[in-house]
Amino acid sequence: MLNLAEPTRPGWYDFIEDHLDLILIDHAHLEKRAASTALSMVFRYTGREGVPRQLGEVVQEEMEHFTRMLDILEERDVELRRLEPAPYAKELVAAIRPEEPHKFLDKLLVAGLIEARSCERFSILGEHVDDDGLAAFYRELFEAEANHYTLYTGLARRHFPQQEVENRLDELAHIEVEALKAGCEIPRLHSW
Ligand SMILES: [Fe+2]
Ligand SMILES: [Fe+2]
Repeated sequence: MLNLAEPTRPGWYDFIEDHLDLILIDHAHLEKRAASTALSMVFRYTGREGVPRQLGEVVQEEMEHFTRMLDILEERDVELRRLEPAPYAKELVAAIRPEEPHKFLDKLLVAGLIEARSCERFSILGEHVDDDGLAAFYRELFEAEANHYTLYTGLARRHFPQQEVENRLDELAHIEVEALKAGCEIPRLHSW
């Protein structure tokens, strides 16, 4: 349902387990970036049907996730410090074609794939973290990010022919896996 070309490797949670606070900081930054991506699309594609309303709602939800992450960090006495991000998003953004209307399609699909991968990772965290409150939070986020995935791909299908969307989604899904693998040695939400 999430259109990921490959699932997360089985050892990922073991790899990040000892760095949970780092993952939480990374996650807070990620929510902020998700809001920023949606907002920039509201600016750029205001005239496209569905964009201002639907992505406006995404901006609000991502900012709510961001402030909830701030609460979680505060409870754990962890400072929101700057963190070098995984190369993941940068690698994916590099795959966005520069000319319109391809750019619009690619932006929607890349945003959708990032939501899908986050969603998959949140489900892993929801299953494994050794903190009931945090586990429940991740299970809740799983649903929210799955809805965002559906929303972004739904907008793509609304504005572009079905076959074009499926073909490009398939191409970008393979690029998404390579982007994950590019950040293999640092523990991040989007590391391999
Ligand atoms: Fe979010
Ligand atoms: Fe999201």
